[in-house]
Amino acid sequence: MGEKLFTRGKIAGLSLKNRVIRAGCFEGMCQGGQVTDALIDHHRRVARGGVAMTTVAYCSVSHDGRAFEHELWMRDEITVALKKMTDTIHAEGAAASIQLGHSGFFTSRSVIGKRPLGASAKWCTFTMSYCGEMTEADIGEKVQDFVNAAVLAKESGFDAVEIHSGHGYLLSQFLSPWTNKRKDGFGGNLENRMRFPVMVIEAVRRSLGRDYPILVKMNQTDGMPGGITLTDAVVIAKAYEKAGASALIPSAGFTSKVPFLMLRGNLPVKEMSNNQKKLVNRIGLKLFGRFMVPEHQYESMFLFEGAKKIREAVGIPVIYIGGVESKTDMTKALDSGFDFVQIGRATLQDPDFVKKIESGEITQTKCDHCNRCVAAMDAGGVYCVSNERGFLKV
Ligand SMILES: Cc1cc2nc3c(=O)[nH]c(=O)nc-3n(C[C@H](O)[C@H](O)[C@H](O)COP(=O)(O)O)c2cc1C
Repeated sequence: MGEKLFTRGKIAGLSLKNRVIRAGCFEGMCQGGQVTDALIDHHRRVARGGVAMTTVAYCSVSHDGRAFEHELWMRDEITVALKKMTDTIHAEGAAASIQLGHSGFFTSRSVIGKRPLGASAKWCTFTMSYCGEMTEADIGEKVQDFVNAAVLAKESGFDAVEIHSGHGYLLSQFLSPWTNKRKDGFGGNLENRMRFPVMVIEAVRRSLGRDYPILVKMNQTDGMPGGITLTDAVVIAKAYEKAGASALIPSAGFTSKVPFLMLRGNLPVKEMSNNQKKLVNRIGLKLFGRFMVPEHQYESMFLFEGAKKIREAVGIPVIYIGGVESKTDMTKALDSGFDFVQIGRATLQDPDFVKKIESGEITQTKCDHCNRCVAAMDAGGVYCVSNERGFLKV
């Protein structure tokens, strides 16, 4: 037991040095949509810490897919800086992946300079705005945006791309009946609701070639009434495999409705409200945060049972994510047929987490899932707040 953890593994044509990948954790370090030195240093540090591959978190495929001013969007002008980042990661002995997505109905009007568009017209409490419904021409344009972004990522030296089809982002908004009320061929039954995400994966596969790794992060459940269920997710997983996905990452949750389902643990309401620019939002979140944002109890490996159902449904590698906090957890996932694990908070708390597990220096993370790192990412850049306050010693 446990032999697999520090052996090489493959995703499509990519051979990775071990079975641990840093999960996409929004860094909040792309002020003005730029690749900053802070972002590069962050991933240098993660890569040095022993993961086989690090994931640059949410990069919008287009300017109109951003929810925050400090979010990256893919374009020609940043490829030189991205190449510097992938070179830096490679020099530390790790591979580099980038998460590509679009925020759809929860994009910020003030950031994108126009009305947000989603699967259907809908009010979004998260942004306090009303979005319009995408036309078929808009959908075609977004498919092309995903293709262009993936091609630029490959040209910038990324070893893999991760398409975001979970967490209530645009592709997830099409899958979910909660956000998709369309009457055309992109709405209604699950086959129709999958059409756009499947088109994206097929088109990206055609443009990147047969062996290039395309990871897809998806939901095993949206986690609210009217959202997709595990039964839907099994069908979606099979369709994604057929469309050309190289590996699946079954997560959960819907950013605009149940954002902490993917994380579990403490709700950092006070810290999140302090980050709000508008006074009314600050007060609103402070007063009603606990009612607006549901809390979910943390346990290690909290997405394991659902992920196993996805594992059984497909032949491509499945990457376990959610509450991996020890060598025992990693071994449990790998021994249960998962090919890799993705880890978020344990590597934020200690970037050397994987190296220390490998050397035997530690067996368990010190992360206490206070989730204040989530608030930190919107207040200048993600870091482990507990470490800074001296609660935890790295
Ligand atoms: C600070 C922070 C930022 C995150 N940002 C993203 C993101 O940009 N994209 C994403 O898919 N998931 C994001 N996540 C979720 C993680 O990828 C992962 O699904 C979650 O943290 C559970 O894994 P863990 O228990 O190993 O932390 C974020 C998590 C944290 C803690």
